[in-house]
Amino acid sequence: MNILLLGSGGREHALAWKLAQSRLLSETGDRLYAAPGNPGIADHAELVKIDAGDHADVVRFCDEKQIGMVVVGPEAPLVDGLADSLRAAGVRVFGPTAAAAQLEGSKGFTKDLCARAGIPTAKYVRASTLQDALAALGGFEAPYVLKADGLAAGKGVIIAETRADAEAALADMFDGKFVDSASDTGAEVVVEEFLKGEEASFFALTDGASIMAFGTAQDHKRVGEGDTGPNTGGMGAYSPAPVLDAMRRGEALERIIAPTVRAMADAGMPYSGVLYAGLMLTDEGPKLIEYNCRFGDPECQVLMMRLQSDLGELMLACAENRLSRSEAARFSAETALTVVMAADGYPGTPKKGGSIRLDGAGGEEVKIFHAGIARDEHGGLVANGGRVLNVSARGANVTAARQKAYEAVDAIHFPSGFCRRDIGWREIAREAE
Ligand code: AMP
Ligand code: GLY
Repeated sequence: MNILLLGSGGREHALAWKLAQSRLLSETGDRLYAAPGNPGIADHAELVKIDAGDHADVVRFCDEKQIGMVVVGPEAPLVDGLADSLRAAGVRVFGPTAAAAQLEGSKGFTKDLCARAGIPTAKYVRASTLQDALAALGGFEAPYVLKADGLAAGKGVIIAETRADAEAALADMFDGKFVDSASDTGAEVVVEEFLKGEEASFFALTDGASIMAFGTAQDHKRVGEGDTGPNTGGMGAYSPAPVLDAMRRGEALERIIAPTVRAMADAGMPYSGVLYAGLMLTDEGPKLIEYNCRFGDPECQVLMMRLQSDLGELMLACAENRLSRSEAARFSAETALTVVMAADGYPGTPKKGGSIRLDGAGGEEVKIFHAGIARDEHGGLVANGGRVLNVSARGANVTAARQKAYEAVDAIHFPSGFCRRDIGWREIAREAE
């Protein structure tokens, strides 16, 4: 069947690479299309110019090219209801409806669902006025966690060390600073308890009823080495995350993922697609920090480096509500690690147009996924975004995978870019013990 993949990042390059190997495509001669894609995705898919924001245009394209399944990479089109428009037109889609995507789109929605279903998460208060939010601070201790509702690309969360900082941050938030005009959620802030522990990501596929564990990863959100500086979309990741051992994975599935999928179905908004749980591993067990309704970027890249099952078949099983009949996903026992190379200036204003030469870096166990990158008029690669390349390697453990990834990084010519040199540091310290 023909497949359309939406998105343009390193996550989508990794998905395109795996989808191109799917029996759905490789044994049938059917085609993979991607919109808008990037130069790396173009190695696996035909790039097309359709706008995911124009639902009628996407549906028209699906009709014209007889698309059997649409795979939506990023969250914005899902929160915007693209999956609803496609399903209404009879097109299969991997990704949740707008109602179900509220698990990522609205922090308040998710917190209320957790409260109803008894899912472990930080204690919280929702406030829709500055006055209520200030009053809510009294019920918590420093550090204060403040979250603007609506999609904010991970930048809507403030951790304030003192009450005065928290008060000032709330005043800013209600001043419209974080209100996302594209969503209808309006100004609302969630004030919540600070959770202590190590963070890890847990992924599950679901068709709304069945659930399939789909791997673990750890991300490095801060721009600077030693996890310092401003938050980013992620500067590197590895999979699996050994801290999410079998016991904690079991707890996460049983106490967090399963009750969520059940509660969503009971509420008449079954969740279909990949459910990405950001967890805090506390002394009391895993607690939910947040849900995302898509794969993580760059966590997807390390999951795809390890995935041995047919990605297309699993996505189709989700889209056709028959995941219970699929075999559990198989992953290599090896570790995969990805280093993000970003353009100077990221996460502020990244420098555009810097030249990049890959000089043959890559190979069987090393993949260079393209993210914010474009071709110049001579066909050369240039930086065209914040996160530009995801250098991903597989090895026996984090230490081995990291060595291969940095060897490839060092072979790449990208003078106006930078990367963190310490991806995997926590695990490498544990491996050295
Ligand atoms: P979120 O957008 O909800 O993932 O939050 C961004 C980051 O803020 C998370 O990855 C955590 O590092 C941190 N964070 C969010 N909520 C909490 C919390 N309740 N306790 C401690 N850290 C948190
Ligand atoms: N890397 C974090 C995210 O995709 O949300």
